[in-house]
Amino acid sequence: MKLLAIVPTFFSWLMIVDCVLTTRFCGPETGDDFQRAHVGLIISPIMSSRKIREIEIYWNHARYRPGDTIALYTGEPTSGLEPIYTLIPNAPSGIKRTGLQATFVPTSNLTFVQQCLQYHVAWLRNDTVRMTNCLQTQPHWMSERRAILGSLPMSRVFLPGTHDSASYEIYVEANSENFVERYVITQDVDVLAQLIYGVRYLDIRVGHYPHTNIVWWVNHGIFSIVPMQAIINQVKTFLDKTNEIVIFDIQEFPVGFGKNLAVHHDFVAFLEEQFAGYYLPKSYGWASTLNTIWSSGKKLIIGYDERRIVNRYESIWPCVTHQWGNVRTIEDLFNHLNRIETESLGQSKSIPRSAMAELTPNTWDIILNRLGSIRQMAENVNINVTNWYNSKWQSTANIVAVDFVRSSGIIETAIEWNERRNSHC
Ligand SMILES: *[C@@H]1O[C@H](CO)[C@@H](O)[C@H](O)[C@H]1NC(C)=O
Ligand SMILES: *[C@@H]1O[C@H](CO)[C@@H](O)[C@H](O)[C@H]1NC(C)=O
Ligand SMILES: *[C@@H]1O[C@H](CO)[C@@H](O)[C@H](O)[C@H]1NC(C)=O
Repeated sequence: MKLLAIVPTFFSWLMIVDCVLTTRFCGPETGDDFQRAHVGLIISPIMSSRKIREIEIYWNHARYRPGDTIALYTGEPTSGLEPIYTLIPNAPSGIKRTGLQATFVPTSNLTFVQQCLQYHVAWLRNDTVRMTNCLQTQPHWMSERRAILGSLPMSRVFLPGTHDSASYEIYVEANSENFVERYVITQDVDVLAQLIYGVRYLDIRVGHYPHTNIVWWVNHGIFSIVPMQAIINQVKTFLDKTNEIVIFDIQEFPVGFGKNLAVHHDFVAFLEEQFAGYYLPKSYGWASTLNTIWSSGKKLIIGYDERRIVNRYESIWPCVTHQWGNVRTIEDLFNHLNRIETESLGQSKSIPRSAMAELTPNTWDIILNRLGSIRQMAENVNINVTNWYNSKWQSTANIVAVDFVRSSGIIETAIEWNERRNSHC
């Protein structure tokens, strides 16, 4: 008798939980025009002596209507607040520069609580706000979705990543870049900020300078950018403050490693000492689910692109597969990404792969400045990459690594599709 009474209660409780989850992750099934629509804010990477951090608005809305308006605000779009900028969308998807400069936010002002950073955007129809978004941080997106992501390995999660993650330079004021910076700097916020914004895949290249005070640097090619110690500290700060899983992928050794493996042994010793207590042992393997990783209490995976070394240590893992197109045009980038995403359909590799979603200039492109700086190239491709991963490859995407991550919408796209992919919406 008692048991029978409990059973229905248990089931109705399950149904409530299910409903809450469905509503939270899928949105109510209203069948309205806005269900798959998107509007978002990005920060342009373009910088000159007069301009920096221009706010741009991008949208994707198949059922937009003439008369719809998109408006930008400096706070929650409530009835009293006047927008600082408005535009009328004239196509189902697009991007518009606003001419407005976003306030500089130092990393020290970012918190470990999800927050909107001043700017909000709204889609209005008939003077009614139908959809909103904001420039935001996502310090806990992964652990917040434990219920839907926990049973997956990293290779089945859509992970926002950065290319050459530590090749950053932070400008407060507008400035012009020199020739080297134009082709070396790939990010405009530091690694800690990238992680707080939502990036979970870091692409790291190392330089070894044995005859200087600071021996280990993060490089981009032959250029040393930031001491490795600074990057390691940023990653540890993030791991201390969150329950997120981070891939720290050592992908290249452009300076000071030479042919023999001795320097690698020194470097692994350095990593083991610095990341003691943080890294997950390789014996767990790439097939481990997020839940398994969380249960271990270790949330850092160190990838290492030198097989002979990986075999010798329990601390470092086979690196993520970088999928480069070496392409110079946006059409070729589309073809490259289309090919790798289509090919991935039939595969079930447990090692994650990273779609490298950027153009690669050749030497003459650089000398003749044919494709523009890395900033210009990111500005040209990042919204297309975002839209493609929102509408074509959302079901296969694994890691997608971009330059100047705030000028893409790849973080919100990844979060949104991780939900839809895994809650049958
Ligand atoms: C890239 O995006 C822009 C803006 O939405 C669009 O006009 C252009 O056609 C896209 N290019 C490609 C190759 O998809
Ligand atoms: C950053 O924090 C400082 C100190 O709390 C504050 O004065 C400043 O206004 C903040 N800047 C931004 C852009 O939020
Ligand atoms: C918008 O307002 C007009 C005039 O009040 C009305 O005729 C129309 O049906 C409204 N459209 C929607 C989608 O509510």
